Amino acid sequence: MLVTDQNKFQAIISHAKEYGFVFPSSEIYDGLSAVYDYGPWGSELKRNIRDAWWNEMTRMHDNIVGIDAAIFMHPTTWKASGHVDNFSDPLIDNKDSKKRYRVDHLIEGFADDLAKAGKHEEAEALVAEMDRLLAASELAGLKLLIEENKIPCPVSGTVNWTDVRQFNLMFSTQLGSVADESDLIYLRPETAQGIFVNFLNVQKTARMKVPFGIAQVGKAFRNEIVARQFIFRMREFEQMEMQFFIKPGTQKEWYEFWKTERMKWHTSLGFPADLYRFHDHTKLAHYADAAVDIEFQFPIGWKEVEGIHSRTDFDLSSHQQYSGKKMQYFDPEINQNYVPYVIETSIGLDRMFLLTLSYAYTEEKWTKEDGGEDSRVVLRIPAKLAPIKMAVLPLTKKDGLPDIAGDIIKDCRQDFYCFYEEKDSIGKRYRRMDALGTPFCVTVDHQTKEDNTVTIRNRDTMKQERVLISELKNIVKNSF
Ligand code: GAP
Repeated sequence: MLVTDQNKFQAIISHAKEYGFVFPSSEIYDGLSAVYDYGPWGSELKRNIRDAWWNEMTRMHDNIVGIDAAIFMHPTTWKASGHVDNFSDPLIDNKDSKKRYRVDHLIEGFADDLAKAGKHEEAEALVAEMDRLLAASELAGLKLLIEENKIPCPVSGTVNWTDVRQFNLMFSTQLGSVADESDLIYLRPETAQGIFVNFLNVQKTARMKVPFGIAQVGKAFRNEIVARQFIFRMREFEQMEMQFFIKPGTQKEWYEFWKTERMKWHTSLGFPADLYRFHDHTKLAHYADAAVDIEFQFPIGWKEVEGIHSRTDFDLSSHQQYSGKKMQYFDPEINQNYVPYVIETSIGLDRMFLLTLSYAYTEEKWTKEDGGEDSRVVLRIPAKLAPIKMAVLPLTKKDGLPDIAGDIIKDCRQDFYCFYEEKDSIGKRYRRMDALGTPFCVTVDHQTKEDNTVTIRNRDTMKQERVLISELKNIVKNSF
């Protein structure tokens, strides 16, 4: 069933902008479609997610190292990887509105409407037939499916469609000053290829033995056609990918291993297991012999956040063929050379960011002791990922309270991100910190001057307790 909460999704988008998490790119010129900038708290949150992934994948595994490859790569890379020939989406144009749609999105949108109207079986049958036709690359069949179901253009409302065509998603640009075909290069559509072409460099210099992995975080670019779901589907985004090189024949066990490991990582961050599920691919990418998505229940429905792919020896063998360089590993245990197989884990950093906001965003209402109503918007971001860990708030701007607050920050800022705020009432400052997802607010008041204690307020329970200043650092550090 398709479960969506568009109101919540819109509220998250507005909140993200109002509180400095995500802005539309070049907004003063009305933005650029499917491109976004991260603001002060967004860039902190993004960095914390990136660090959590990087530390888990590299430091916590003896046999995984990281690299940072360039975005531009030799153009033959993309011929060898199959992206020049295969990295395309089936598109259809409406002749009246002149609007272009991704066929799967057009059909899924129609199926969504059917489901909302209670026609669940029809919706499911339509999506199943679409999946079958997509898997078989039956473009004419897809057009027929759209026409037979009278799926209209959302803009013109007509069913006056062109044929379905494939459209390559890679952005290209020119290298150097001469606009000549031979200078055409691509902005990488995945970070994985930077790992494959460096396989031998890394294996030799880091003295790695199969099985081992190479991890990388970096920008990727795709000319997505339908990109209207905020940072869910962007044209410029960041991927966190790891290629794990293994002995051929062991791919099934390593595939299961990485499925379990990656799901463990998600739940270890504090996200509930029941908001996740695995979804096996029926249509496999050109390089895979098995693939599964880790899906999360976003407000826009169950959607992919991470992919785990058994990529066989497709990429290394193909680079070997195109470059003429051997991409082999000598396995001393069996005294043989082979091209390793690969299990890939690939997660979108921006999508993990959206997952975090989707889980965290909560609107609360309650009745106060005096019978009045109160409410707040709180981001229940797991403390480990929260942009600000502790806000220090002097009760007033005088009597030396700001100096004490400043000293607390000086003592803690090496260990975690602290924030100072003296403007507005304490109540308003608490609400602002709730909206930013700050797990702890510390208030310095006049009693602090007498006994070196402060109140520490927990974001989730809103409970306050009085503690010694000397205890603060450990309380906050122990929460993540
Ligand atoms: N190297 C394999 C690969 O790129 P993918 O399923 O196309 O596989 C992996 O992408 C992950 O990258 C996805 O699970 C998603 O989290 C993220 N991703 C893909 N396209 C994206 C886009 N247009 N905007 C944001 N994130 C995207």
